Amino acid sequence: MNGRIGSDVEHAAALLRSGEVVAIPTETVYGLAANTFDEGAVLNIFTIKERPSFDPLIVHIAERDHVMRVAKELPQGAQELMDAFWPGPLTLVLPKRPEVPDLVTSGLDSVAVRMPAHPMTAALLREVGVPLAAPSANPFGYISPTTAQHVADQLGTKVPYILDGGPCAVGVESTIVGWDPQQRRWVLYRPGGIPVERIEALIGSVGMSGPSKLHMAPGMLESHYAPHKPVHVGDVSALLKRYAGRSVGVISFSTEYEADRCEMLSVDRDLAEAARNLFAVLRELDASDCALIIAEQFPEEGLGRAINDRLRRASAR
Ligand code: TXA
Ligand code: MG
Repeated sequence: MNGRIGSDVEHAAALLRSGEVVAIPTETVYGLAANTFDEGAVLNIFTIKERPSFDPLIVHIAERDHVMRVAKELPQGAQELMDAFWPGPLTLVLPKRPEVPDLVTSGLDSVAVRMPAHPMTAALLREVGVPLAAPSANPFGYISPTTAQHVADQLGTKVPYILDGGPCAVGVESTIVGWDPQQRRWVLYRPGGIPVERIEALIGSVGMSGPSKLHMAPGMLESHYAPHKPVHVGDVSALLKRYAGRSVGVISFSTEYEADRCEMLSVDRDLAEAARNLFAVLRELDASDCALIIAEQFPEEGLGRAINDRLRRASAR
């Protein structure tokens, strides 16, 4: 018998083929997946997440070649990016094929695609035989899940099956880049698991998406990835003084602070390890007795950019 959480790839594939939604592990965060071409199933994702229909989904594929099942053409540099970073935490926004339902792309003429690196989900994608549309498996606006238990805690009663692939190795969502035909270059929509420095080393400088792009990429909504408790980011000592007398949880690279809870993201000040721990720590503090969360500003390089981006959005209210 299958429980609600399990590691039965064939069972997950059967559910997906019959139009159900399944939570899947990826190297970044857990996703809530459905057959990309089954509009009823995709609609269920939006309902379960309480996600507004203007926030498009990422399509996950099993092989690099499968990109042409959803994309109409590959802009210059796309092949190099796919060869260098797939499978892995890079999402490309590409001109879409008409077969991709508008629901998946929120009516945009582009589609976001990635080939995930998690072996269990790679096996699932091969088994199902269709690309899977999947946003992160959290209620809209909340912190993304990095374990199967995180998914169960929040969506357990709404999802028929959670495929458990262990804790996510990267821990923050994929980096999203898209080709901008006007600027004739790639633009960063969201910093994530692949450092932008590595992308620029391959294809040259990447543009930053300005405010005009915000409505097109609601994952970039200012208030997002947010715990229920207030989050403040900056100089930890100064913030601790400002909130003296309150029960505080601190997220940093150090244990030296005097606070009710001190969560050190990495003993070695390793940004990859810090990214891996970030969301679980935010969840823990959100569930703790602390009244508010204070986080330091991490180095603005490599995975530090994704960490700072998520903390900044968590603090925007
Ligand atoms: O690592 C990840 O990317 C995870 C795993 C499950 O793959 N997925 C994920 O999806 O983080 P999520 O919930 O962030 O939603 C996808 C985001 C949207 O909010 C939007 O910012 C962006 O991807 N996106 C999707 N389609 C887009 C498009 N056509 N143009 C611009 N941005 C798009
Ligand atoms: Mg999300």
